[in-house]
Amino acid sequence: MDSLKLSSGLIFIQLVLLASVFNSANAQLKVGFYKDSCPQAEAIVKGVMDQVLKVAPSLSGPLLRLHFHDCFVRVRAHTIGTSHCSSFDSRLYNFTGKGDTDPTLDSEYITRLKKKCKAGDQITLVEMDPGGARTFDNSYYKLVANRRALFQSDAALLDNNYTKAYVKLQSVTTDESTFFKDFGVSMRKMGRVEVLTGKAGEIRKVCSKVN
Ligand SMILES: *[C@@H]1O[C@H](CO)[C@@H](O)[C@H](O)[C@H]1NC(C)=O
Ligand SMILES: *[C@@H]1O[C@H](CO)[C@@H](O)[C@H](O)[C@H]1NC(C)=O
Repeated sequence: MDSLKLSSGLIFIQLVLLASVFNSANAQLKVGFYKDSCPQAEAIVKGVMDQVLKVAPSLSGPLLRLHFHDCFVRVRAHTIGTSHCSSFDSRLYNFTGKGDTDPTLDSEYITRLKKKCKAGDQITLVEMDPGGARTFDNSYYKLVANRRALFQSDAALLDNNYTKAYVKLQSVTTDESTFFKDFGVSMRKMGRVEVLTGKAGEIRKVCSKVN
């Protein structure tokens, strides 16, 4: 569904994915868990990921999403990718059920989004990060700080003083190294949230449905 072409941040995403998959506090997910049964496991995964992403860089977006939905099933930042209008159009057309708009969304941005998304549009895709949907960067924070986050879950970062301060800080930071570092740390932390291992949970046959 997404056609992302990421140039920057690719290797970084791979490393983050590997680190978070293998770096859980849970004993079954720690680095080296397979050291006896399959000592090369981690190197093999990394090797395959390197090869795949070299020929199909657009898979890094979906992979990142896979990690989110697989590992943090109960939680979704949106810096890359696209979204259907229907995922947020209530903010444009019927926020409280009275035909109103979400007052926390920038009014100019609402006007622009309404041009792309008519009420009830189930088809059109919109970039989550206008102009930056194909790159992995901290422009996300500039959008949130400017009240241009597509989703309420992102806009909510401004509702808490601590996260609001972080959004403001990142929105004016030109050196993205802190963003990349913090992103890695947070992916690892989130990858540890309520992890199900062994016989707990299930591997779904259809992603969107419990078996
Ligand atoms: C807006 O939401 C209200 C309450 O959910 C609903 O009754 C109404 O039909 C909606 N209006 C439109 C145009 O979808
Ligand atoms: C958040 O910051 C505002 C303004 O500085 C302050 O009035 C409010 O008490 C703070 N809220 C919390 C929960 O710290």
